[in-house]
Amino acid sequence: SIPIILDCDPGIDDALAISFAAGSPEIELAGITTVAGNVPLAKTTANALAVAAFAGLPDVPVTPGCAAPLLRPALHADHVHGESGLGGAALPAPRRSAESGHAIDFIIDTVAAARGEITLVATGPLTNIGLALRREPRLASWVRDFVIMGGSASRGNVTPAAEFNIWADPEAAAVVFGAGWSVRMIGLDVTLLARATAAIQERMSSLGSLGSTLLLPALAQYRDADDETGEPPVHDVCAIVSIADPSVFEYTPAQVAVETHGALTSGMTVTDFSASAAHNARVATAINAERFWRTVLSAYGSLPVA
Ligand code: BDR
Ligand code: CA
Repeated sequence: SIPIILDCDPGIDDALAISFAAGSPEIELAGITTVAGNVPLAKTTANALAVAAFAGLPDVPVTPGCAAPLLRPALHADHVHGESGLGGAALPAPRRSAESGHAIDFIIDTVAAARGEITLVATGPLTNIGLALRREPRLASWVRDFVIMGGSASRGNVTPAAEFNIWADPEAAAVVFGAGWSVRMIGLDVTLLARATAAIQERMSSLGSLGSTLLLPALAQYRDADDETGEPPVHDVCAIVSIADPSVFEYTPAQVAVETHGALTSGMTVTDFSASAAHNARVATAINAERFWRTVLSAYGSLPVA
């Protein structure tokens, strides 16, 4: 199986992503690092601990990182993810606390100790990853792969131009896209097509307490900007699925630059698909949604709480 570090801000869809990682036979979760994003850092960290324990990963280290973006004040999305960050899900309180180190040290040390082996995944604002790259630029060549849920080649969700994870810390995102590695960008172009439809939620209801305690109450109070229908897109799950089952997404090479100055476009991922551009990313441009859900529900079905 493929070892990953998940840098996240749970967050309803982050919680669904952790649960998928826990159940997928293809994924080995080497660690979770947390960042301020959907809710403040103390809550994203507590949520990561609670979800990991609930999903049968009581020993995966959870290491907190940055409590605010590199240059900007922290702006959260509790109107989307609820006061706690997990919508209507009320999980048992975690029995352990987070690791005492800092996320960027955990990321650098873990990747350095297994060069070429670890896939780094980010499903929150890119503050920790940007700072880790500044601290240790060789991180970019030491990872096996680097994947984000974030950005968009078409349109945003916080503003018409910007997706939340990039909008929240555009300077960090600019560092990350400029680090000399190839970013695998799973953005809104495909994640908006990975929706928990009524039929999918029906299937989740047969997953025991995973469905009744976590998945369904979390999704029921998910106020995603693109959820007018009660069928919310599960953005962050896409990033982990792209590692577990590479055939779910199709990619187009592109040059992605992050807008950090625009009065109307701050946080936009300006994406140039032309062949002559200096490609620094592979941008997901198509999803097999049926296969996506088959993979996700199969992993969920193998969890101890399912
Ligand atoms: C992203 O923003 C967050 O609110 C979600 O957790 C996801 O990572 C979608 O734009
Ligand atoms: Ca997230």
